[in-house]
Amino acid sequence: MFIGEGPGKDEDQQGRPFVGKAGELLDKMIGGIGFKREQVYIANVVKCRPPDNRTPTPQESQTCLGYLKRQIELIDPGVIVTLGATPLRELLGIQTGITKVRGSWQRLELHRAIPVMPTFHPAYVLRQYTNEVRGAVWADLKAARAWLEEHP
Ligand code: URA
Repeated sequence: MFIGEGPGKDEDQQGRPFVGKAGELLDKMIGGIGFKREQVYIANVVKCRPPDNRTPTPQESQTCLGYLKRQIELIDPGVIVTLGATPLRELLGIQTGITKVRGSWQRLELHRAIPVMPTFHPAYVLRQYTNEVRGAVWADLKAARAWLEEHP
């Protein structure tokens, strides 16, 4: 399961997560670890588009959190990959910068303990298209994939 921040313009129009430019990259990231989009579940912290694509406020995020937690419970994913700082902050209460936390396993205590791999948001990767950032995301995704293989 992948968790982003919130719908952008394209997502808002289509009613589906990650269908714009960031979604294209997310599709490639998913494909890179050997999955099709239909084999993973993609969700967002907030379910409505914040005006001007701003970061959702803590209050907006907390309003949608029950919905997201229910999605997680129903999907019961083997691993969650969080994309960017917002899901990490709102779902796990981790305020540490994403550059520091990415790549280190976290744990979400819900109906059971679910391993969480934080990585950069694809929109950030598109803005910072460096070997360093892309390599970091690749390493994080490979770690998530390896966990699933080791815990079928
Ligand atoms: N960015 C997100 O965080 N979520 C989307 O669905 C699209 C872009």
